[in-house]
Amino acid sequence: MTATATASETTATPAAQPLLSVAALSVTFGSQPVLRNISLDLAAGETVVVLGESGCGKTVLLKAMIGLVQPTTGAVLFEGESLSGMTERQLAHLRTRYGFVFQGAALFDSATIAENIAFPLREHTQLAAHEIDEIVSELVAEVGLPQSVLQKKPVQLSGGMRKRAGLARALALDPQLVLYDEPTTGLDPIMSDVINELILRVRERPRTTSVVVTHDMRTAHKVADRIVMLYPLPRLQPDASQIIFSGTPTELDHSTDPRVRQFVEGRAGQRLDELREEQARAAAWQTTAPRDPETAPPGQQEDLS
Ligand SMILES: Nc1ncnc2c1ncn2[C@@H]1O[C@H](COP(=O)(O)OP(=O)(O)OP(=O)(O)O)[C@@H](O)[C@H]1O
Ligand SMILES: [Mg+2]
Repeated sequence: MTATATASETTATPAAQPLLSVAALSVTFGSQPVLRNISLDLAAGETVVVLGESGCGKTVLLKAMIGLVQPTTGAVLFEGESLSGMTERQLAHLRTRYGFVFQGAALFDSATIAENIAFPLREHTQLAAHEIDEIVSELVAEVGLPQSVLQKKPVQLSGGMRKRAGLARALALDPQLVLYDEPTTGLDPIMSDVINELILRVRERPRTTSVVVTHDMRTAHKVADRIVMLYPLPRLQPDASQIIFSGTPTELDHSTDPRVRQFVEGRAGQRLDELREEQARAAAWQTTAPRDPETAPPGQQEDLS
């Protein structure tokens, strides 16, 4: 191969396509806009942490990424293909490539842990029962649970054990993309760090891309390649970006944006008063007829058209 050929091959190589793209995504429920014009690309193998105050739309964003919430405008693309253009069959296949660790573990209460973890394998594969048992047993070991949990019901487990069982279920189909919603909330610092370690190990699985929604700054620093911070729409001006930070954990530490600093340092500041004022403004606006765009709370202004 000549040097010229090598150079032209190099320049001809296209930039790697993102595994998942959120493109100008907006989501509105009734009269309540929650996400506005969010654009975010996930590169294959990357771990992105999504931070933001309670209620700013983190869970809605995760659900939109896997088609559980529909975009009001904009799109979500998996390997360049829009989810909204897919048939039910394509979507069902796509969901086998995602693992979702829900905010409250979301295990089936009446099923054993073994049945919970086996569920995606029974639904989406043709594996024989003994093969499924083997995989379930390996998954339980992978998340550091004893084999004795397999015959227990979720109610018999501690919160940390339930979270790990939820993670084992999410990993059952060997997903390309794992989405974690508040994986450490409600856990003690040691168990939280066990979950952080598991997230790091999952990251090392070949080709695994992860999105971790959290309030936990330790988790964010430990697992993130990139951190994205969302801001609640009701406190944003109509033309302001809802993503108020995007960068590495070190860049987050050095951010001078007061909104970012307030979150990172966990200060309430005037927030209680602001929340009360927002509620009062929203209540007054709801009862004003006809609705006047000039007086609408910032988050609701775009909804008047
Ligand atoms: N299916 C739905 N229908 C109507 N409103 C919804 C729905 N899902 C979420 N919301 C609203 O969207 C807003 C954002 O909710 P979301 O659950 O994404 O917040 P969050 O950032 O995950 O908060 P937290 O940190 O408390 O989990 C909330 O005001 C919520 O009430
Ligand atoms: Mg949430």
